Amino acid sequence: MLKAQKKFGIEELEELSSSEMAKLTPNKFGQLLKDYFTIQNVYSAAIKEMSTKLEILDSEFHFRYKRNPIHNIQTRLKSPQSIFNKLLKKGLDSDIKTITESITDIAGIRVICQYIDDIYTIADLLTNQDDVTVVKVSDYIKRPKENGYRSLHLVVNVPVFLSDGKENVNVEIQIRTIAMDYWASLEHELKYKNPEEVPAEMKAKLLECAETIAETDRKMQDIYRALSKLHNNGEE
Ligand code: GTP
Ligand code: MG
Repeated sequence: MLKAQKKFGIEELEELSSSEMAKLTPNKFGQLLKDYFTIQNVYSAAIKEMSTKLEILDSEFHFRYKRNPIHNIQTRLKSPQSIFNKLLKKGLDSDIKTITESITDIAGIRVICQYIDDIYTIADLLTNQDDVTVVKVSDYIKRPKENGYRSLHLVVNVPVFLSDGKENVNVEIQIRTIAMDYWASLEHELKYKNPEEVPAEMKAKLLECAETIAETDRKMQDIYRALSKLHNNGEE
């Protein structure tokens, strides 16, 4: 397994043609790299599709209410190495069917919103669209993780239309406020190197920060609601 992994690191992947890929040693990671070539196009298309949907919703919102609920959209395609690691961790086979059915975050989109209300508005508007099927919802805002992590996670299934037919693929969407994103980015960075070695005291401090940030998010939301009411002569 490691042989092909070393020879064909992720950096080199883009430089390989399909015929070169076909010559890869027939081991699991080699097979995975070949499969990755087949699926990456479809998953990239799904990311583009979902990003466009989000951009359309944002600009329509701007047209109607003169403000943008979305602050920023980030996208990423999971690397073959990361897919492989996840398969190993879950004890799953690396055939294409298992990968596409059990790894739901090959296509990942992170939507950073201004206010908590915007998160649910965007999620509702997106999931109500005819071609978007909700597979899973994990609301870590209503039920934050033990460490304080907050975000709304959705796994949706969307059709991608290709020259030889249609493929339905899963896309993971994480929707959070600027404040939640600030905490998650720093927390990820802090625990990245040695997740097991973060002392309990630091974990408690991180949790405290998450609570403070959540409180600020709620206050900003209240200010926004109150000001909107004021500007709309008492109507929300
Ligand atoms: P995975 O197998 O890791 O995908 O777990 P899961 O399917 O249970 O998904 P979950 O909803 O727990 O989290 C998936 C993604 O959310 C991660 O890859 C991170 O991007 C983000 N995430 C989840 N928990 C945390 C956390 O505690 N801290 C940070 N910074 N990010 C998190
Ligand atoms: Mg996941």
